[in-house]
Amino acid sequence: MSITVNPIPENERGSCPKELAFGAAFADHMFTQLYDDGLGWHDAVIGRFHDLKLSPAAAVLHYGQEIFEGMKAYRRPDGKVSFFRPDANIKRFNRSAARMVMPEVDEAVHLEALEKLISLDQKWVPSEPGSSLYIRPTMIATSPKLGLGAAKAYMHFIITSPVGPYFKEGLNPVSVYISDKYRRAVVGGVGEAKTGGNYAASLLVSEDVASKGYTQVLWLDAVEGRYAEEVGAMNVCFVYGGERVVTPSLSGSILPGITRDSVLKLAPHIGFEVEEARLDVNTILADIKAGKITEVFGCGTAAVISPIGRLCFKGEDYIINDNKAGPVAKKLYDSLTGIQYGTAEDPFNWVHVI
Ligand code: PLP
Ligand code: COI
Repeated sequence: MSITVNPIPENERGSCPKELAFGAAFADHMFTQLYDDGLGWHDAVIGRFHDLKLSPAAAVLHYGQEIFEGMKAYRRPDGKVSFFRPDANIKRFNRSAARMVMPEVDEAVHLEALEKLISLDQKWVPSEPGSSLYIRPTMIATSPKLGLGAAKAYMHFIITSPVGPYFKEGLNPVSVYISDKYRRAVVGGVGEAKTGGNYAASLLVSEDVASKGYTQVLWLDAVEGRYAEEVGAMNVCFVYGGERVVTPSLSGSILPGITRDSVLKLAPHIGFEVEEARLDVNTILADIKAGKITEVFGCGTAAVISPIGRLCFKGEDYIINDNKAGPVAKKLYDSLTGIQYGTAEDPFNWVHVI
């Protein structure tokens, strides 16, 4: 199937804003394709960014049959634009689709759509340090039907948004609240899938802790309420003794982050040990108090590598590295972004220049 490209006239195109809030402005074009049972995927088009026309009975609006992805396009020193591990994003998109009983997309069509869309909206890829064009592939169930069951019709679309740092703190450490009451996801549920409901379920606690001065929530496992899982928009890593990066193992309820996987591969390459383990929150907090944990940071596409300077559990604050960004997080940030932005070697062949 080929993708029809309908570029909008030059004089109707917008321009990339100077001030970049996360996900507030959108580039000129978007990709859409439709799926119908029996017909498969059809009508793949890149055209003007537009509002969607949906039946108020569309399944996505009632039962949340939806998946999305997050990736970025980076401006390189030679002016070219690249993606970071797009193959991993596309594969995760299809794994989420399978979990949510949605049709998988053709990986080659998805990649071609990304390449054509971002080539067309090249000028929306910002070049200020730390900025990028955030890419949001999404799939929604469009069948107008209130009976509960997998839909028969879907829309797959891709929109893009020029972004700066995800957190208002920029590269300064964020404060994270460990939820002792609410849980994000349970093994056997949909925590591993990138589906909107996981994020909707987190909002009650996020709003509550934001009013107390915390930027994100760290979720514990839903069975024992004891093991660290992940943070709202990123995976989490704990640094022991300034040299060993430990992250919760993929439990079945954590999103398998592509940045997390990259950290696990990159850290040994730049001199750190890595470990995936079941991490008891009480041990973590005791190890912070004892000075054994020297840094904590989150990692994700939007968050990149974000130092965590303060953790709160049951009303008690635990300060990490004097609430400053630590050397391991800084080195990982520099190494990872060096590869992503094309200012450093790419030993793992992660970069896809378009
Ligand atoms: N965990 C959650 C809940 C996320 O939303 C994200 C962001 O995508 C991550 C982890 C990190 O995943 P990735 O590194 O693939 O962006
Ligand atoms: C991403 O990092 O791509 C995400 O999807 C997290 C989101 C909450 C912005």
